[in-house]
Amino acid sequence: MEFHLHDEAPPASTAPTEYGDQSGEEFEAYSEKPTLGVPDNNVREATSAETLAVHGSPHITPPPGRDAEWSMTDQVIRNKERSEAAGYKKRELGVTWQNLTVEVLAAEAAVKENQFTQYNIIQLIQDWRRKPPLKAILQDSHGCVKPGEMLLVLGRPGSGCTTLLKMLANRREGYHSVHGDVSFGNMNSEEAAHYRGQIVMNTEEELFYPRLTVGQTMDFATKLKVPAHLPAETKSVHDYVAETKQFLLESMKIAHTADTKVGNEFVRGVSGGERKRVSIIECMATNGSIFTWDNSTRGLDASTALEWAKALRAMTNVMGITTIVTLYQAGNGIYNLFDKVLVLDEGKQIYYGPAASAKPFMEDLGFVYSDGANVGM
Ligand SMILES: Nc1ncnc2c1ncn2[C@@H]1O[C@H](COP(=O)(O)OP(=O)(O)O)[C@@H](O)[C@H]1O
Ligand SMILES: [Mg+2]
Repeated sequence: MEFHLHDEAPPASTAPTEYGDQSGEEFEAYSEKPTLGVPDNNVREATSAETLAVHGSPHITPPPGRDAEWSMTDQVIRNKERSEAAGYKKRELGVTWQNLTVEVLAAEAAVKENQFTQYNIIQLIQDWRRKPPLKAILQDSHGCVKPGEMLLVLGRPGSGCTTLLKMLANRREGYHSVHGDVSFGNMNSEEAAHYRGQIVMNTEEELFYPRLTVGQTMDFATKLKVPAHLPAETKSVHDYVAETKQFLLESMKIAHTADTKVGNEFVRGVSGGERKRVSIIECMATNGSIFTWDNSTRGLDASTALEWAKALRAMTNVMGITTIVTLYQAGNGIYNLFDKVLVLDEGKQIYYGPAASAKPFMEDLGFVYSDGANVGM
């Protein structure tokens, strides 16, 4: 952090300040103190302007190598080289969607059901003839995320972020109807359903076997993804599992919890933030191609959240993963790691484009950005 000393003389005016009307010696002592120099936030430009049709978008330059900041990037690169040497094929998969609309039954469609209503013939006929009132919770959304890109979906709670994310993770259950096209590579959603293991979603609520320890949970997760033939320098499946598990536990700094129960509401186990991190590394263990993360920084402290975002950036860049994230607390540090941003409001897409152009776009519309505010909040 930088500190700048005041170059000029302290101001002559002795107008009341928030510290009260301080004059004389006390005031001088205060004005001599160093003040914090806030570093400029250069919002980084997107890598993939060619996939976006943003009117009048500025010249796009490649991103600075921010991924290098993550402490474990080297190991990710080593892992990738090892997989390449072992002859594993790249599994890159992008996702594109257009005219995507999701409808659910509106609240007024809810009827009180009891065992007698099913014999109410008149009601049944009326229900059959009447079109149910529907509400679109996501309207005409479109976008594209290529392998190696990161998309941030923003919106206040209830605006449809999870709905969009679920569509992009090919989880369509629980909605009345879904219209529009979502393509995973050149597959449509039915074809992509065969590759469920490649399209991963980290949901907001975690579901674990609470009585397993963190170590056992990760053992299980990594064992499921042992390749058919091992890389040359790995001797046994056991070694492979142990190595991957250790890397994952260290990547989110929860190696110390390996022997603690995961727990849940009833079984006391690791803390909420640690459990979130277990769910994060459990997802990372899947070696998927498309990763969607629903508010995965919930319960994490700001620095771990940034660490997680850097890990995503590094893995996305190195492994060519497609990453889609919703966040409700995206500080500038996290925001700047993303290539693209999609802003939802009541199910409508109000911005989709390079992360760097979102702020000027909103300012053009007349929204005011106050100094020190976060772009993504
Ligand atoms: N299956 C469903 N049936 C009815 N309403 C739903 C359903 N899923 C979501 N909604 C409603 O749609 C809106 C958007 O939900 P969601 O995508 O979960 O929002 P968020 O942006 O907070 O993640 C909310 O108002 C929610 O109540
Ligand atoms: Mg949500």
